[in-house]
Amino acid sequence: MPKRIIPVASGKGGVGKTTFAVNFALALSRRAPTVLIDLDTVTSSVRSTLATAIHRDLYHFHRKKAALVECITRLEPALDRTGRYRDFGFVAGPRHYLEELANPDPDLRRRLAVEINSLPVDYVVVDLRAGVDANVLEFLPYTNSGVLIFTPHLPQATLAASDIVKAVLFRTLRLVFSKSSDVFRLPGFGEGHELIHELLSRAEDVYDDSVPNLDFVLKDLRDVFGDQPLLAAIEWVIADFRVHYVLNMFDGVEESHESAIVPFVQNLGGNVSGRLNLTQLGWVVQDPKLHRANCTGVPLLLEGERARTQAASPQRPAIDPVFAELEALRSSALGIDRRKPPKVSRTAAAEAPSVDALLGEQLESLRTMFTDRRKDSVQENFSYAVFRALNLMQAPRLPTEFGMTQIAPPEQLVRWILRRLQSATAQVPA
Ligand SMILES: Nc1ncnc2c1ncn2[C@@H]1O[C@H](COP(=O)(O)OP(=O)(O)OP(=O)(O)O)[C@@H](O)[C@H]1O
Ligand SMILES: [Mg+2]
Repeated sequence: MPKRIIPVASGKGGVGKTTFAVNFALALSRRAPTVLIDLDTVTSSVRSTLATAIHRDLYHFHRKKAALVECITRLEPALDRTGRYRDFGFVAGPRHYLEELANPDPDLRRRLAVEINSLPVDYVVVDLRAGVDANVLEFLPYTNSGVLIFTPHLPQATLAASDIVKAVLFRTLRLVFSKSSDVFRLPGFGEGHELIHELLSRAEDVYDDSVPNLDFVLKDLRDVFGDQPLLAAIEWVIADFRVHYVLNMFDGVEESHESAIVPFVQNLGGNVSGRLNLTQLGWVVQDPKLHRANCTGVPLLLEGERARTQAASPQRPAIDPVFAELEALRSSALGIDRRKPPKVSRTAAAEAPSVDALLGEQLESLRTMFTDRRKDSVQENFSYAVFRALNLMQAPRLPTEFGMTQIAPPEQLVRWILRRLQSATAQVPA
């Protein structure tokens, strides 16, 4: 079973999901067995960015009832001469448009999820399609955003990425605080579901400015119910939600900040909540070599590999750039900045941090990273994102804060939240 399933999403199309997913999965496979799955079944493009023969793909999974594990393609020796990427595999989308796969029904999505959950690898990277429909949402975690890609070159893409956060978080809150949810059986949780739902609907509706975002939902609930554990629980679900993002076609700190991070954070802070935890996983510079590599089907990481292999003398082992880079990063002073986990308290709904505070944090983290890594090549950009991701995955606190350990049905989410709430509220003195 995978240790972690990492979806890559963007909301908007054409911002670099596939480019990131392919190279990120390749770099990750240097650490542990990794499979990349092309779930963009409408415009499947993973197969064209990896020039290797594909014998089985999602068509065989669906029509021929092949197991997903049988649909994994390995790189041909010509692409991976030294075998350094032998732990990389991918499941390609269908070769041509096929209605049942382009718009999979709930049964097919469920079967896919079940088989992804049991793939015999450490990491699964999922390249998602553009948009925010069930085909995207059902493959995203409940408690974090997966990896969001956006770019300073396409302002609409930043808004689309923040809308994914909104969609995922509102879905989680609706599920956890639904009428029939076991959460309401917890002592002191009372009967708030109707009001919660009314307020969530108003907060979700950007045309209704009576409740602009989730922080106002909390404030209004507190006005009605006073401070009580239910409120602290809602606050906890929001404040524990993690947003991870990568800036593609990065063009410098100040430029990216102005044209990508500011609109992203303002949209999140204004329309979702100022309590969210944002983590920048890194950036990918704009590089024509990356685009050429996509067109020729030889990803840059593999190209570098081939060049180095040819240059190395037979006696001396070739230096593995990705491995060397990851090792070098270990000693880097840059770890993952993480805010302390929020405490569930009886005095819920304290003031949310301001958008300016959120922005300040993002700019500072970007500046710090940039000071350290501004000379990085595009290959190193991917190693760095892998390094940051591995750091997050090693975090002992919550396995649900980066990607997911399994693609879980809603009942599982409620069970998980319930356990977490029970242990959190047990620590709160009555
Ligand atoms: N950092 C980069 N430098 C240069 N070109 C890039 C970079 N990232 C992506 N591209 C190019 O931009 C185009 C879109 O990239 P990609 O296909 O990865 O986006 P996508 O989000 O997966 O798109 P879609 O929504 O259609 O699946 C491609 O032509 C790709 O080669
Ligand atoms: Mg794509």
